[in-house]
Amino acid sequence: MNNVETKVFRPNEVKAAAKLIQDGQLVAFPTETVYGLGADATNPTAVKNVYLAKGRPSDNPLIVHVADVKTVEKYAQPLDERTKKLIQKFWPGPLTIILPLKEHAFDPVVTGGLKTAAFRMPAKEATLNLITESGVPLVGPSANTSGKPSPTTAQHVQHDLNGKIAGILDAGQTDFGVESTVLDLSVAEPVILRPGAISKDQIESVIGPIMNNHHHVSAEETPKAPGMKYKHYAPSAQVVIVDDASEFEEAINWAKAQKIDFGVMASDVVLNQLKNVPEQAKFSLGEEVKTASHNLFDGLRHFDLQSDVKLILVQGFNKTGIGVAYMNRLEKSAGQTHFHQIKE
Ligand code: TXA
Ligand code: MG
Repeated sequence: MNNVETKVFRPNEVKAAAKLIQDGQLVAFPTETVYGLGADATNPTAVKNVYLAKGRPSDNPLIVHVADVKTVEKYAQPLDERTKKLIQKFWPGPLTIILPLKEHAFDPVVTGGLKTAAFRMPAKEATLNLITESGVPLVGPSANTSGKPSPTTAQHVQHDLNGKIAGILDAGQTDFGVESTVLDLSVAEPVILRPGAISKDQIESVIGPIMNNHHHVSAEETPKAPGMKYKHYAPSAQVVIVDDASEFEEAINWAKAQKIDFGVMASDVVLNQLKNVPEQAKFSLGEEVKTASHNLFDGLRHFDLQSDVKLILVQGFNKTGIGVAYMNRLEKSAGQTHFHQIKE
């Protein structure tokens, strides 16, 4: 697996990338959320290599990416009305749906042995073309080393997986920056297993009230979405959340007193007010929660490349709309550490 040449493909070179997929190789692909690590979902050896390349625990199942609804119908039980409505409204787009499968639909390596699978149709033309050209659905976990922030550029993928995968389809930066919403539709009462780019309100506007279940699961529990129990999105430095913009001054004084190098990730308004922080220690999250979601993983990776930075202070946002997904990823990367809890 190591030391293969990782070729970079442009969107007009999809045919060559699809050839690698058909040969059972791994090719990372862009989506509107984050980059995924693609392999033929019908080839168990290729799928096993996805787990190996990422260092991902094998009980954490993968999302199956499709370019048409026909492919979902091939593997899943007949679609019910709410599923059809959601597909109609949000696909292609950042909503992943868990559906009950037909017998022997996929090898257990794809589903983690579950009788369900996660399906998603990504909204990136190059990737839809890649799936269609390959002629098979593609598994696609985020294309990062397991535990690290998800990749939002081809360069992030290269950093983690260069020499371990056959190719990367490069279509520039992703749009949302946080992963898709994972919605379990295999049960009578639909439930959000992972908050994401599509909000609870958006889903409820189509199928009525649904539940939330994205609490932080301990390692001993058996969670519904197995991915929830693992440490995630974590750079080597300790991440500390600063929930209130007015706390930043105090948080920076506290960080300085620790006598360690630190970085600050905040909106432009907040950064401009921080006169006593050197420019190279600042990373802009842009104007508001939407841009912050777009920039979060990039910022964590930016400071992760600077080994002397031991602490990163990151601005919190309200948990509404995409803010729910932003805070979910940020809290995981911080191991729940909020500044107001640790200051004496
Ligand atoms: O935006 C995204 O969803 C990206 C892009 C590349 O499509 N993909 C992504 O995949 O985030 P991954 O593997 O990092 O996250 C998939 C999540 C995991 O938390 C996994 O446990 C859950 O979906 N999952 C997959 N299949 C499942 C199933 N059958 N039942 C419950 N949870 C499932
Ligand atoms: Mg992931």
